[in-house]
Amino acid sequence: MPEPFEAIRITDRVYWVGAIDWAIRDFHGYSTGRGTTYNAYLVKADKVTLIDTVKAGFLDQLMSRVRSVVDPGEIDTIISNHSEMDHSGSLPAVIESVRPSKVVASSMGVKALGEHFGLDGIEAVKDGESLDLGGVTASFYETRMLHWPDSMFTYLADEDLLFSQDGFGMHLASTERFVDELSDCVVDREAAKYYANILLPFSPVVKKVLSKVEDLGIAPRFVCPDHGPVWRDETERIVSDYARWAEQKPTGKVVIAYDTMWGSTAKMARAVADGVESSGRTAKVLPLRASTRSDVATEILDAGALVVGTPTINNQMFPTLGDTLTYLRGLKPKNLIGAAFGSYGWSGEGAKHAHAILDDMGVELVRGVDDMVVSQYVPDDEALRSCRELGAEIGERLPE
Ligand code: FEO
Repeated sequence: MPEPFEAIRITDRVYWVGAIDWAIRDFHGYSTGRGTTYNAYLVKADKVTLIDTVKAGFLDQLMSRVRSVVDPGEIDTIISNHSEMDHSGSLPAVIESVRPSKVVASSMGVKALGEHFGLDGIEAVKDGESLDLGGVTASFYETRMLHWPDSMFTYLADEDLLFSQDGFGMHLASTERFVDELSDCVVDREAAKYYANILLPFSPVVKKVLSKVEDLGIAPRFVCPDHGPVWRDETERIVSDYARWAEQKPTGKVVIAYDTMWGSTAKMARAVADGVESSGRTAKVLPLRASTRSDVATEILDAGALVVGTPTINNQMFPTLGDTLTYLRGLKPKNLIGAAFGSYGWSGEGAKHAHAILDDMGVELVRGVDDMVVSQYVPDDEALRSCRELGAEIGERLPE
């Protein structure tokens, strides 16, 4: 009987056996508008090896795809490249089911899998260590804090293929398994969104890992991440994207994120954007009740400025701004200039609070707290002219 789910061949000895999650729209706070995949891979050499597993709840898909190529009982080794639960949630059940002769992970992976699931007997592999998978050699390279302490890459020189766990991945559910089968604009957007929302705070680590990979002479034909499609023949494309994103070099783009109660801060945001345009730079305006925090993070990945607008409600900034700024602060964006602005009724703390968070994030503020652009109630023409001047001033400080 054919299996309901089938493995997809990547090379003669490597298959994709993961799961497609078409329905997920919130991945621990990251808005996944196009769903995701949890990728697992099977190496079918003289021995059979499973690379990573899938999120709990997707075990049936994984096992069915495995069965489409081998009897799962033939799995000799499981390699856990990353212990986060979207890749390890099914691991205890797979171990219970197939009884592999060994499960390996980095030393921090052994610790994390023990603490998550009470798993013992997992063997630690060292950075640079190799393991014979039955005629195919796997080499392990730790990538600590890319993006967890346990993270590691597994490289198969014989297959010219790198298993990169979360690195080089994207949240994208598709029936296409290879990047070159998808449209460039979808791939570019989702890869950037993934970097901005997951890897941005670890950009210094990204630079070190890219340099380590180059020093080792690893330039594989295939890069197989734990989410989204497999990179085939154009792996330098994503490597050069990562090198650029890790630099966070400012551009002439200004991100304006705002919320509004009665439309006044919205008017101000539009005037700031017009000022940016007058400077010859570009503005991206994100009303926070129509944009997610993940959208804002993605837009600032290639921006030079972050400007936020908020009304004051009960002596606070608007809650959507609190959410977005808390999220962005954790992502540690670098090399941004910016400002806060907003309308208020009588006390006006909202923009001051936003200003303080931007300052704490290391955003270089173009206005001090005493000369911020604020407006009581509805902004008049003079207030809107001040907004326009703010936008122009910020634009002029950015590269063309
Ligand atoms: Fe896809 Fe860090 O888990």
